Amino acid sequence: MLLGVNIDHIAVLREARRVADPTLIDALGIVKRAGGDQITIHLREDRRHIQDSDARDIIHLSPLPVNLECAIAPEIIDIVCELTPHRATIVPEKREEVTTEGGLSVIPQSPELKDAIKKLQAKEIEVSLFIDPCSDSLKASKELGVEWVEFHTGKYANIYAMLYGNLASTHHTIPSLNLPRATLKQMLEQELIILKQLSDEAQSLGIRVAAGHGLNYQNVQAVASIDSIEELNIGQSIIARCVYTGLEEAIIKMRECIQR
Ligand code: PXP
Repeated sequence: MLLGVNIDHIAVLREARRVADPTLIDALGIVKRAGGDQITIHLREDRRHIQDSDARDIIHLSPLPVNLECAIAPEIIDIVCELTPHRATIVPEKREEVTTEGGLSVIPQSPELKDAIKKLQAKEIEVSLFIDPCSDSLKASKELGVEWVEFHTGKYANIYAMLYGNLASTHHTIPSLNLPRATLKQMLEQELIILKQLSDEAQSLGIRVAAGHGLNYQNVQAVASIDSIEELNIGQSIIARCVYTGLEEAIIKMRECIQR
């Protein structure tokens, strides 16, 4: 199983203060040393975290392949074509959302999508579509000739969170349902069955399969055990954990600096 580490949240922290600290470039070597296989970043239209210069520097300096997530806005696709990352993952984007809340609605006849894919592939950039685990979107992805799909695991993570009180949920997308545990368990199992069926189907269609969104240390295993999924892209839970695993060392280091 390949692991793409999404480092957007390092930029979120930096942008909160509009300073140069923490730098994203320092994270690249750490991701590689720790066994990450890919750097994943999202150049959003509102530039709320990753900036154009970050994307440029990361693609230039990363020791690992870079997966650049982007919307199909022509301005963004032109930038991606110029930057030529290893892969571009096309995602839906809404200005008001806090994160990518669902997969793309893939319509094979969509001229914008066709055009974006053609432009990217002409630059030899692998194209992936971030889709909900849904048969129509998968078939449409096949018609569009993309190399990869990435299945949105947000619904799985949300059901898991409702069942086990887990941290991965995007709170405002969780319906306030007071469902019995047995129903939630069935829903979770069903979600995993669908994910497996569609991943197997994608593989048999010759499309490589990634998955991601809301995966964390508790819920990841069931998804990771699906053989036809080749790669997981994970951000929030990894960066959130750094705060706890790194806080002690950070305070000790500051103590050393101010010791007298
Ligand atoms: N994959 C894609 C396409 C995404 O947009 C995101 C969120 O930025 C992720 C994976 C990672 O999701 P999370 O931060 O919840 O792990």
